[in-house]
Amino acid sequence: MILDPCCGSKMFWFDKDNGDVVFGDIRRESHTLCDGRALEICPDVQMDFTALPFAANTFSMVVFDPPHLVNVGKNSWMAKKYGRLDKATWRRTLAAGFSECFRVLQPGGTLIFKWNEDQILVSDVVSLTEYKPLFGHKSGKNSRTHWICFLKTAPSVLPFFAAEMFAVSREELDGVA
Ligand SMILES: C[S@@+](CC[C@H](N)C(=O)[O-])C[C@H]1O[C@@H](n2cnc3c(N)ncnc32)[C@H](O)[C@@H]1O
Repeated sequence: MILDPCCGSKMFWFDKDNGDVVFGDIRRESHTLCDGRALEICPDVQMDFTALPFAANTFSMVVFDPPHLVNVGKNSWMAKKYGRLDKATWRRTLAAGFSECFRVLQPGGTLIFKWNEDQILVSDVVSLTEYKPLFGHKSGKNSRTHWICFLKTAPSVLPFFAAEMFAVSREELDGVA
């Protein structure tokens, strides 16, 4: 089984009703976006990725795509689509999210992490887990969306290594938190 603990509107899923996936999110909401399109956040299970309601070693894959914005209006369409992080607590929140995702992942399981570094550097985020990224890919208009693959093996000590791997200068970002 696969877990997507913050599925939002499942934009990146080819099959939004894939029976092999447990779709979770902290909210269940419907909105109409500015262009008139409907936005449905309709998880199988409402859950908090900082305290996942599953036993350890349950899933063979976890897909973790948490909110990446701290500077965004509470009622903006970006916040409706992607959620938002709290300026004061985002490090703690994401560290707890990684910790929970790895806890429920089976040994040898894969964690796919997606991050857009418009506001927070990916190196600052991957350093919140002691697991080591295996490989990744950058996409999007300015190559700021990172797809990163981790394997649940024995954790390694990472922080300094991670900072070097994702060498983007802070000056490139408009509003680092
Ligand atoms: C970047 S969006 C996910 C987009 C999704 N992958 C897609 O393809 O549409 C992040 C989602 O995380 C959810 N979220 C925020 N905090 C959460 C938490 N503590 N636990 C679970 N979901 C959370 C938000 O509600 C939002 O829908």
